Amino acid sequence: MRTIIAIVALASWSMCQAAYGQECTQVIEGNDLIKFNVTEMRVSASCSEVTVTLRHVGTLAANVMGHNWVLTTTADYMAVASAGQAAGPPSYLPAGDARVIAATEVIGGGAETSVSFDISALAAGGDYTFFCSFPGHFVLMNGKFIIE
Ligand code: CO
Repeated sequence: MRTIIAIVALASWSMCQAAYGQECTQVIEGNDLIKFNVTEMRVSASCSEVTVTLRHVGTLAANVMGHNWVLTTTADYMAVASAGQAAGPPSYLPAGDARVIAATEVIGGGAETSVSFDISALAAGGDYTFFCSFPGHFVLMNGKFIIE
């Protein structure tokens, strides 16, 4: 299993190299203190597809310390966070909401998930925010997603 993951990781890395050496894959961690380990993520506009992997490095369960990674425009961020809170489990996001550019599932401690999405329709230099839509978490778990 580790070998398979390594091969997939290597293949992803190779595709990134093709995109002028820019990063097309990103890894972000969430913990039990309601924090992501980064407040900014940068990808190249030359990436045809971006893959974000979210690792929950805590130990608490998804129903008490759930984390996901959601991307919206910064203009939509607060409204989608509120709608997500109202939507409740398991996704904490409104179903089929066009304002959600990309989102992972909600995971608990020790779990990992990822999402791949096309950024060709997004604007380089546009104002995008990533956050966790678990109730209340968007206040502490958010950051800028920069396409350059
Ligand atoms: Co969270």
